[in-house]
Amino acid sequence: MTSSAPAIPDRDGADAPYILCEDLFKIHKSDELEVVALRGLDLKVRPGELMAIVGASGSGKSTLLNILAGLDQPSAGRAFVGGRDLLTMTEGELVRYRRSAVGFIWQQTGRNLIPYLSAARNVELPLMLEGVEAAAARDRARELLDAVGLSHRRDHLPEQLSGGEQQRVSIAVALANRPPLLLADEPTGELDAIAADGIYEALGELNAQQGVTVVIVTHDPEIASRVDRVVAIRDGRTSMEIFRRAERSGGVTRVVHDEYVLVDSAGRLQVPREFLDRLSIGERARLFLGEGRLEVLPDSVRRVPPEERP
Ligand SMILES: Nc1ncnc2c1ncn2[C@@H]1O[C@H](COP(=O)(O)OP(=O)(O)O)[C@@H](O)[C@H]1O
Ligand SMILES: [Mg+2]
Repeated sequence: MTSSAPAIPDRDGADAPYILCEDLFKIHKSDELEVVALRGLDLKVRPGELMAIVGASGSGKSTLLNILAGLDQPSAGRAFVGGRDLLTMTEGELVRYRRSAVGFIWQQTGRNLIPYLSAARNVELPLMLEGVEAAAARDRARELLDAVGLSHRRDHLPEQLSGGEQQRVSIAVALANRPPLLLADEPTGELDAIAADGIYEALGELNAQQGVTVVIVTHDPEIASRVDRVVAIRDGRTSMEIFRRAERSGGVTRVVHDEYVLVDSAGRLQVPREFLDRLSIGERARLFLGEGRLEVLPDSVRRVPPEERP
């Protein structure tokens, strides 16, 4: 944490969030089992933001992304993307939403591309399906493969490309129809650090060039230096947020990260497990309001007010 007060981009500010989730719940129901994957999740993403979601396995990241992609419907709460209400959309509206309003990249490289089509044909396909003319589709594919640095691989089949190259083609495919939102579920999960860097670079480039809003789910701790903001999910709720900002001092500009704990509309915040363990805080703690601060103490400690201290 840094002590200076940073400018927080649009908390509740002027431009409406592109993604707005409030008190979002998702219960996965199978034959005998109900799993609560999202339990009151709050999230806002600005239009044109490049942000990442991190969290342990099973914390609900993919569930959230599938809901935002229109692949799955939430159980309760509020979820809006570009002003569309994801809880009330009909099946037909969801189909149109998936086709034109959102691009999606899966972790498994093989799931993103059609194996018997070249890189260029893979990018052209979603355009042809939308009725774009062949010549225009070719131009758009060329432009996108150029943007992800793969012009020289346009005629290669997926199996002739490295994993990193396949994922870069997948980004081009996902953006073919110019969706305003790009969602990527662990796009670098099967890649080494250098290939992962190429993916982040391509995503950053397209975000800057085309203004597409980008949400990346990842395990990669390096992500904080590649995006504007990282939101951590714990047990189906957003818990923490890290902002990247440039700080100038003595003519030198450096990148600093400001870390925040999120407070939900009911006033709940999540204390990191390590902090609780360090202070042996179990089921209850004591809360004291001090001068400009809040103190959380183990219940075994009786805090002696300054005036009673010896
Ligand atoms: N289709 C499903 N049916 C039942 N349970 C599911 C389903 N998808 C996810 N879950 C459960 O929901 C929780 C969150 O999963 P997921 O969103 O995949 O987390 P993450 O992507 O963060 O690893 C996990 O406990 C997982 O087992
Ligand atoms: Mg997942």
